Amino acid sequence: MTSILPHGGTLVQRVVEGEEREQLLRKSTNYKSITLNTWTLSDLDLIGVGAFSPLTGFLNEEDYRSVVKSMRLADGTVWSIPITLAVTNDVASSLSVGDTVSLIGEEDGVIYGLLDVESIYSVDQSIEAQNVFKTTDPEHPGVSKLLARPNTYIGGPITVLNRPQPEKFGEFYFDPAETRQIFSDKGWRTVVGFQTRNPVHRAHEYIQKCAMEIVDALFLNPLVGETKSDDVPANVRMKSYLALLENYYPENRTFLGVFPAAMRYAGPREAIFHAMVRKNYGCTHFIVGRDHAGVGDYYGTYEAQEIFSNFTAEELDITPLFFEHSFFCKKCESMASNKTCPHSKEHHMTLSGTKVRALLRDGVCPPPQFTRPEVAEILIEGMSQEVTL
Ligand code: ADX
Repeated sequence: MTSILPHGGTLVQRVVEGEEREQLLRKSTNYKSITLNTWTLSDLDLIGVGAFSPLTGFLNEEDYRSVVKSMRLADGTVWSIPITLAVTNDVASSLSVGDTVSLIGEEDGVIYGLLDVESIYSVDQSIEAQNVFKTTDPEHPGVSKLLARPNTYIGGPITVLNRPQPEKFGEFYFDPAETRQIFSDKGWRTVVGFQTRNPVHRAHEYIQKCAMEIVDALFLNPLVGETKSDDVPANVRMKSYLALLENYYPENRTFLGVFPAAMRYAGPREAIFHAMVRKNYGCTHFIVGRDHAGVGDYYGTYEAQEIFSNFTAEELDITPLFFEHSFFCKKCESMASNKTCPHSKEHHMTLSGTKVRALLRDGVCPPPQFTRPEVAEILIEGMSQEVTL
């Protein structure tokens, strides 16, 4: 096993199998049920496999209020994003504390798990939005998702009875217990985790490789759960990651596995959450670059780095690696940042996401100093398929 402990000390494991599972499934048909959308289903599964350790279920009221207010669970453990189960008033009023409910997939009617109801509580979503997203603007994609949910939450420990099955790229889904074992088998003592919801461009590659110079290996851990509609779809991204790794990364020091969570776009708070989760997967280091998990202009460029100073190194227990905005400098003839490059802005190649998307949509490869051609080709192909769909 890797030397790093999971967040809270123990890797949570709430997936039951075999006879116990059969028995619980038989019982579950007598329980009232709650329907889960894809987002909440991914949260359920990630709690079940310990990716969200030390959470053992959806937050109860005490933990929820503490997380929203002070980025800690009620016992003081660092936790920055509320993981909650929202239900309609009708469902809430049919339930009592102490009930067990079955959790059913909205799309397929599968019983994915059970929840022991520990608390039923109403929340002020504008306070949650302001504290977690730093805005109540309904244009913010995280806030709009939050406001679209009912404001009554059910909290309590869960049990997973069935796992959602990926349609594609199933071989890149690993549970935290598996990645920990794999890192250990490979003899890696230090592993840097990299979160992304985008194709890996040269700036991403640069900061990953800077990090790789000081640790044993890179865990490329793209988020493939729900993202906003104008983000590049996960299947296209997966193809692009494979092409990039094959051509530009050392196989014995790189590992690709997906993070099947939904993107919150909560900037600074999500950076803390992303780091804690990667610790659970066995990473000892975690990259936080410019505007990590940000969207629009809601967060300052380095706010997602600054937030780490609210916590001690001991309570985080994973080393964040901070990187400044990186770019290709024509004078340096290399990737750089303002920390390493003395030249002025006009020598720096920077392209906005919007500009890159426009180029790709027109079938034009962005300059190789921005995106590797192997990656650009896949993105162009992905875009054209999207258009013809
Ligand atoms: S995120 O929402 O998943 O954070 P993205 O996939 O763009 O978005 O970023 C992945 C990681 O790379 C984040 O840590 C982000 O801060 C960092 N990053 C992205 N672009 C740059 C850049 N040009 N310079 C430095 N860091 C960057």
